[in-house]
Amino acid sequence: MNKNDSHIYVIFGASGDLTKRKLVPALYALFVQDLLPEKFALLGVSRSEFTDDAFRTSMESAISEFKEIDDNSHIQEFVKKIYYQSIQFNDASTYLLLKQRIDKLRKDEKIGGNTVFYLSTPPSLYGIIPQHLAYVGLNSQDDGWKRLIIEKPFGYDLESALILKDQLLKDWQEEQLFRIDHYLGKETVQNLLVTRFSNGIFEPLWNRNYIHHVEITSAESIGVEKRGGYYETSGALRDMVQNHLLQVAAITAMESPSSLEPVAIRNEILKVFQSFRPIKKVDVKTNTIRGQYLSSTIKDETIAGYRQEEGVNPKSITETYAAIKFYIDNWRWGGVPFYIRTGKRLPTRVTEVVIHFKPTPHFLFASGPVCSSCNQLVIRIQPDEGVLMKFGMKTPGAGFEVQTVNMDFHYSDLTHQRIPSAYERLIYDSMKGDSTLFARTEEVIEAWKFLSPVINCWKDEKDVPLYGYPAGTWGPETADDLIEDKEMTWRYPCKNLSDDGIYCEL
Ligand code: BG6
Repeated sequence: MNKNDSHIYVIFGASGDLTKRKLVPALYALFVQDLLPEKFALLGVSRSEFTDDAFRTSMESAISEFKEIDDNSHIQEFVKKIYYQSIQFNDASTYLLLKQRIDKLRKDEKIGGNTVFYLSTPPSLYGIIPQHLAYVGLNSQDDGWKRLIIEKPFGYDLESALILKDQLLKDWQEEQLFRIDHYLGKETVQNLLVTRFSNGIFEPLWNRNYIHHVEITSAESIGVEKRGGYYETSGALRDMVQNHLLQVAAITAMESPSSLEPVAIRNEILKVFQSFRPIKKVDVKTNTIRGQYLSSTIKDETIAGYRQEEGVNPKSITETYAAIKFYIDNWRWGGVPFYIRTGKRLPTRVTEVVIHFKPTPHFLFASGPVCSSCNQLVIRIQPDEGVLMKFGMKTPGAGFEVQTVNMDFHYSDLTHQRIPSAYERLIYDSMKGDSTLFARTEEVIEAWKFLSPVINCWKDEKDVPLYGYPAGTWGPETADDLIEDKEMTWRYPCKNLSDDGIYCEL
């Protein structure tokens, strides 16, 4: 970013958790690395009443507590750039106050008209705040750029997403909108692009001729914690699949862009979204699985079931586990199944993409284990970020016994490199106006269209089972049957990239 590209960064929902845990620590990390413009101010906006000083103090402790960078020596200098304004989100008149405050800040700090508005508020306000900002002219780019960053979820279903889209596009232009999907900000998700498009060895194999199926897992060991209220309106499908995991699938499947220009990359991603084969209502039962965690005992500790969590209806049918099988109907992927699974209260926290290559056409070494998925490329998104290749080798000794061995790269080997957090990367990109790693309206709408039949069936059809699974297990056992080939199951990953199976450190 140009150091002279001065601007005001306005965060709505400034008294909330995200601001404290992620946004302000990420902004501080940028400041320490000298990546903020010379003239910069951060304006926190919320309903709560704070003085500038009280807000600064609370951000000061947040930066130390949710450390993004190992250097506390600039905190005092940084917090001087922080200000606070209380408003009532639904009250149009307070936006005039906000405008006056912004104008004053611009004047006092000699900052031009460039402004980022970050909506870190409940989603019900995503339509209202931008509309009010526009009423007082804060969307106008006459005196400098204006950008609007929106957290997920973008809508609750297809219908509400379309309504929100129309509301936003009434006053804002598409290029002003930055929809955050923090998975796209993860270094290892971006590395998927580099792995694919900077290595000649993968490209020839990256298609239906050599790939048997693709598996994407995002497991979490935590439950819904204090977010039961939100989760009840969401569930695993909306919370993780509709956004993060379909984006990961699209990057895994996309064609090479013609350049690294945002529009070129986003066009290729969009084409994948448009090629998802619609899941027919009759197929929902066979191609999707939903589950909900039950109380269990893990390491002598009793873990509450989902229905016992705070803010959750004791009869809730919200899924905390979702698995789907789907196809991408294009030349590269015709006939290759993609599997996505995600869940809370699974044995460990891990996100990875596994490319399962087809077996050799003939099992020459029949004395070894006949393996239909010996060759796997595992791209680990977190933790123990890295890449693992699994392939068959001769077991030393008589005969031709074959065993599967590993070849692995761990990001931790690049110890001199600090990996920036997803928010740090995305906030920086939003300041530069680089929208590559933000979801475009059409992608979001396509994702809702694709999942609509599943959402509707799960809601309406009483006969799509909701399986219970004990907290700390890999979800409903029946999920193994989703992978049709009898020889195959999901990969059961461990914390360490190179391990798998049931006996490993979780
Ligand atoms: C969020 C979901 O978008 O992503 C959470 O709302 C989930 O429920 C989180 O825990 C997972 O993110 P990460 O980066 O920890 O994998």
